[in-house]
Amino acid sequence: MSGDAETEPRSDETELPAQSEVERVSREFTKVFHDLRKQTFSTTTWLGVQLVKTPNDILVMQQIINETKPDLIVETGVYLGGSALLFATLMDQLDIDGKVIAVDIDLDAVRDPVREHPKIELIEGSSVDPEVVARIRAEARGHDRVMVDLDADHRAHHVLEELRAYSPLVTPGCYLIVEDSFLGGRPVRPEAVPGPSEALDAWFGEDPPFVPDRWHERYLLTQNPRGYLRRVGDDAPEPRPPRPPSFMIGALELSGSEESFPTPSPDEAIERLTEAAGRPDLEVEELRRSINNMAKRDRQTHIEADLDRRRQELTVDSLLREMEAQRELLAERNRLLARERARLRRIEGSGPYRAYRGLRRIPGFSHYFHWRDRSRKSDAQARARTRAENREKQTERFSEHHRGQ
Ligand SMILES: C[S@@+](CC[C@H](N)C(=O)[O-])C[C@H]1O[C@@H](n2cnc3c(N)ncnc32)[C@H](O)[C@@H]1O
Repeated sequence: MSGDAETEPRSDETELPAQSEVERVSREFTKVFHDLRKQTFSTTTWLGVQLVKTPNDILVMQQIINETKPDLIVETGVYLGGSALLFATLMDQLDIDGKVIAVDIDLDAVRDPVREHPKIELIEGSSVDPEVVARIRAEARGHDRVMVDLDADHRAHHVLEELRAYSPLVTPGCYLIVEDSFLGGRPVRPEAVPGPSEALDAWFGEDPPFVPDRWHERYLLTQNPRGYLRRVGDDAPEPRPPRPPSFMIGALELSGSEESFPTPSPDEAIERLTEAAGRPDLEVEELRRSINNMAKRDRQTHIEADLDRRRQELTVDSLLREMEAQRELLAERNRLLARERARLRRIEGSGPYRAYRGLRRIPGFSHYFHWRDRSRKSDAQARARTRAENREKQTERFSEHHRGQ
């Protein structure tokens, strides 16, 4: 900051950008940062060893470790080892008597300072290999505060398997970090689906005891939107400073135009998972089940929202309006009835009608009228019977036609 800027009077009343603008800019910047990865990701180092993280996420992880003081950090996906070194040296700096277990399917590239660090234990193997998982679980039993960082294979089926295997190790109040949920068009590499974000969707359908801590997305550039998950169940007060009244994040996975953020329907998500998984059907089935669960819950939420809306509409006002409408309908019927009654009275008072009544009282005529009324009645009954029979025949023809199809 220049000297001038420092002496300028400060105002807390700076007009804030709109949330939509914040989202647009952070989306664009995140894309640019990713697309220029040769000058951004590839040149980022921690104590001389490259790590594949944005500077913001490195800072956030430092804050998380300082806040939660984990004495075991499990990392899947080591690559050159910069992130394992970050975790271990922070433990050194914070006087934490702990260790970092870092697992990678191929440890060849790991740099010497990482191999030599006394707090880092390297395991070669797949992070979802049951033997590897069992070994890490056994190790975790001896630790009080466990943090997990998932940064290995980013395909959805792998991340979901890791989430299920490692999330139970995380202790309440500590963090589970799911890296690279910005893949799959959130906002980078739309073609990289299904990835960590879809795995998160599926896993949230299983109701895990974790909440995404969006506070750690406040620097707007992050590769882990919704990926900083805090295990619930710790009553400790929040150690961080209070949030400003207006708190905005990039919301990279939630909003934006349909075009830049195509949110797949559960069916589409399942289709993509099936295509991309390239794994035994059983695994795809599991993902399908999780996503279906999520879809069911979604539908339930919609139904509840609809009920709520209808309940809101059932106000006294709307009932009064309905009553008023019914009253008007009734008045109209009464008007019609009065008109018909008047017509009847006019007919009854007319000369021809009175003559007709007189005729009916004369014995010969009365027989004739009686006979005529009866035959009119039976004609009407016969016509009604024919109509009913025709209707029945029609229904039969219709059913036969459809049976034949
Ligand atoms: C993105 S890099 C890790 C970057 C590192 N965490 C960092 O921040 O510098 C992903 C690593 O995951 C490893 N990997 C891929 N599949 C794996 C698996 N099934 N189990 C463990 N590691 C795996 C790759 O070998 C690669 O080194």
